[in-house]
Amino acid sequence: MTNSRAGAPRPSRVLLLGGTSEIGLAILSAIGLSPDAEVILAGRDAQRLEAAGKALNRRVTVALYDAVDTASHQAFADGICAGGVPDLVIAATGIMIPQERAEDDVRLAASMIETNFTGHVTALLAFGGHMRRRGSGTIVVLSSVAAVRPRKFNAVYGAAKAGLDAFARGFADELHGTGVRLLLVRPGFVTGRMTEGMTPAPLATTPEAVGAAVAAALRGGKPTVWVPAPLAGLATAMRMVPRSVWRRIER
Ligand SMILES: NC(=O)c1ccc[n+]([C@@H]2O[C@H](COP(=O)([O-])OP(=O)(O)OC[C@H]3O[C@@H](n4cnc5c(N)ncnc54)[C@H](OP(=O)(O)O)[C@@H]3O)[C@@H](O)[C@H]2O)c1
Repeated sequence: MTNSRAGAPRPSRVLLLGGTSEIGLAILSAIGLSPDAEVILAGRDAQRLEAAGKALNRRVTVALYDAVDTASHQAFADGICAGGVPDLVIAATGIMIPQERAEDDVRLAASMIETNFTGHVTALLAFGGHMRRRGSGTIVVLSSVAAVRPRKFNAVYGAAKAGLDAFARGFADELHGTGVRLLLVRPGFVTGRMTEGMTPAPLATTPEAVGAAVAAALRGGKPTVWVPAPLAGLATAMRMVPRSVWRRIER
């Protein structure tokens, strides 16, 4: 960790799980990394990771990482941490498969749960253990407004995000007082590759706006950030809608 001129800590070794994620890369661009910070982009395709590194306009290392290969996650974390425990781990892997496709082929539903939930749990427990032993570090978890209440058209994605959100809150409490911080990020609809072809939902936002909100939240001390901020109020209202009305919402 180094200090910026404003005095906020700047990470010197950063790992992005989901190294081609539009939101993850926007966070990296927004947090004001020092020129000599080490950035590791982890994902399943070396070429795509290298291309993402070029767009970041800085030297990066790429590491092969498959979110659904949960048995490899402890060894993956041990290997990364052997070169230095990251100061910042951003958990941005995710897939969104239309529910009707997951119903036609239930293996797709399993991969959505494994990528969006189980794989985060195993990877973050492994990295969190290393950070805790060192006594410092920050973990950023990309949850979603979808975690608030499942809708009939996204029951599988929503359930995975709800699981991840619950894990992140419990893990944040477990880490409290150890020197390791977990920031939970709940974006709404973010225009980009994952939502391509979908009609933007109310309060739709962009990867850049998520990046800026995460950067601001990292400078502050709150455990959770909604993007955009008014989504927090909308989420409260969403929880209060009667079930008979909620189930009639088509999208
Ligand atoms: N976009 C939204 O509206 C939205 C809203 C709320 C929350 N989120 C969450 O924010 C996070 C980032 O989303 P995004 O918009 O940046 O999406 P994105 O650009 O599609 O990025 C998703 C990332 O996950 C990686 N990934 C998928 N399956 C993987 C696997 N098995 N192993 C390793 N990496 C894998 C992808 O790698 P490849 O290059 O190999 O595909 C990509 O790097 C996700 O968790 C998403 O659920 C998104």
